Parts: sequence; structure tokens; C-alpha cells
Amino acid sequence: MSVVLVTGGARGIGAAIAGRHVAAGDTVLVTDVDDDAGKRLGEQLAAEARPDLVHYLHCDVTAEDEVRAAVAHAEQHLGPLDVVYANAGVVGVTGRIETHSLKEWRRTTDLLLTSVFLTVREAVAVMRPRGRGAIVCTASVAGVRGGLGPHAYTAAKHGVVGLVESVAVEVARYGLRINAVAPGGAVSSLTAGLMTGDGDDLQVAYDRLAATSASGVPTTSEDVADAAVFLGGPSSARINGTTLVVDGGDYVPSQRGLSYYE
Ligand SMILES: NC(=O)c1ccc[n+]([C@@H]2O[C@H](COP(=O)([O-])OP(=O)(O)OC[C@H]3O[C@@H](n4cnc5c(N)ncnc54)[C@H](O)[C@@H]3O)[C@@H](O)[C@H]2O)c1
Repeated sequence: MSVVLVTGGARGIGAAIAGRHVAAGDTVLVTDVDDDAGKRLGEQLAAEARPDLVHYLHCDVTAEDEVRAAVAHAEQHLGPLDVVYANAGVVGVTGRIETHSLKEWRRTTDLLLTSVFLTVREAVAVMRPRGRGAIVCTASVAGVRGGLGPHAYTAAKHGVVGLVESVAVEVARYGLRINAVAPGGAVSSLTAGLMTGDGDDLQVAYDRLAATSASGVPTTSEDVADAAVFLGGPSSARINGTTLVVDGGDYVPSQRGLSYYE
């Protein structure tokens, strides 16, 4: 059984990752800044599985000391970490590039990219001496190409993809793996909040994403979690430094070729 840490794990994709691991009998430390949602998730998962498998700790991923403390907490109280998911994220600053303040830019890139650096750094520090461990970062299709998200979000997620490739080259020889998942629009509090202003209105997000998906089927947080858990687990043992797009085919350039085929 594995010991797992998930940042931004109280809701959406992170919560789905936590759920998959708890269902498999793994011990999970969920961290987030939304303590109410984190505790609610903990109670829900504990009711579905064994209560001792799920733990919650407040951790703001932009705070260096809190990220370090979260990794230390998992190691001391739950056991050696097998998988760390650097998942927390927000949409951040939107609008025309000339309207972005430096403060908004820094706040967004701090939350989406510097946070991933901090989480990856602390995870590698404990995993490298043991010669085993997997790290999975949540990037985005906006980290693979432009035009699919706000500017700072796009730049930060491209940074996550680059960091994953770079660190994989360094740590592969020590038996460590690091990969990324890149969701397209997926049903979560983030998309619900964007679409309706209410992060809990998941049904509206589901319906709208279904309506705009080529397949008529929306990508769910659970779909993304399945890909992330695959990258964190033994079935992906020879996969390192890659970014796995999870979008039901909606954002691949070949969609533009549909006019040739129909
Ligand atoms: N849902 C999508 O369509 C989509 C698409 C591409 C990428 N992503 C990425 O997936 C990841 C998870 O997003 P989601 O869709 O599940 O969103 P979500 O809003 O449902 O969950 C994100 C979680 O991160 C937490 N969080 C926010 N700021 C934090 C901070 N400073 N420290 C710790 N936790 C913090 C939130 O409280 C929340 O619980 C993010 O990195 C996001 O950019 C999501």
C-alpha cells in the first residue's frame, strides 16, 4: 500500500485523486487552503473506506514553509511518501495582456508554477535518498499550446511542463519519476466557478462541457484522476518526463481537420 500526498486535494481533480487512492487502500494526506472542504472530503472518504487512510492538513502551496511542513508531516506520521501530486491551482489573472499588473502576474505564476517547484523540490528531497518515488503535476492543455487559457495561466502551465521534463532528466538515474497530466476543460469547482460564479454548481459545468465536447461527453475530475493515478503508479514504470493530455480529443489539432472527413 502506498503513502500519497495531494496538494489542492479538497476539491475537483485533487479530491478525485485522493478518492481513487483511498479506494485502493492507500494512505492519503490531502492538503488545501479550503479547510472546510478538506475536512468534508476527509469525512466522506472515511465513511466510504477506512477512516485511518485519509488525513487532512492545511497547506498553502505558495508558502515555502507550509509545503515543507506538509511533506514532513506525511513522512513522520504516515510513512515514506510513494507518490506526490502537485495539483493545486486557480485560473488567476485574466484579460488583455496590457491590463495585467505585475502583482497579479506574480500571484498567478506563484500559485501555478512556483508552487509546483516547491512541491517537487520537497518531494525529491525525501525520495532521492530512497531511490524510489513518483511525482505527478497537474498541468493543462493550456500548458501544451497557446490560446486555451489566460496569459499568465498559459505561461505558468507551460512552465510546469518544462519543469517536469527538466527534473525527469535529472532524477531518472536515481529511480524517481515525474510526469504531468494536462486536462482540457474538466468538470470541477474551477470550471463551475468560471461558468456560473458558483464553484458548487457542478451540474451546469457538466452540461456545458458536454455540449461543447466533440464527443458529447464531458471530461470529469475522475477521468483526469485516473490518468494521474496511472502516472503515479507501477503500471507507468517506464514513463518519465511526459505530459499526458486528458481531453477526450477536444483540443487536439486534428479536430480542425474534421471538415476533411465529414
Ligand atoms: N478543471 C479543469 O478544467 C482544468 C483544466 C486544466 C487544468 N486544471 C488544473 O487542475 C488542477 C486542479 O484544478 P481543479 O479543476 O480540480 O480545480 P478546483 O478548484 O476544483 O480544485 C483546486 C483546489 O486547489 C485549492 N487551492 C487553491 N489555491 C491553493 C493554494 N494556494 N494552496 C493550496 N491549495 C489551493 C482549492 O482550494 C481547491 O480545493 C489545477 O492545477 C488546475 O489548473 C484544471
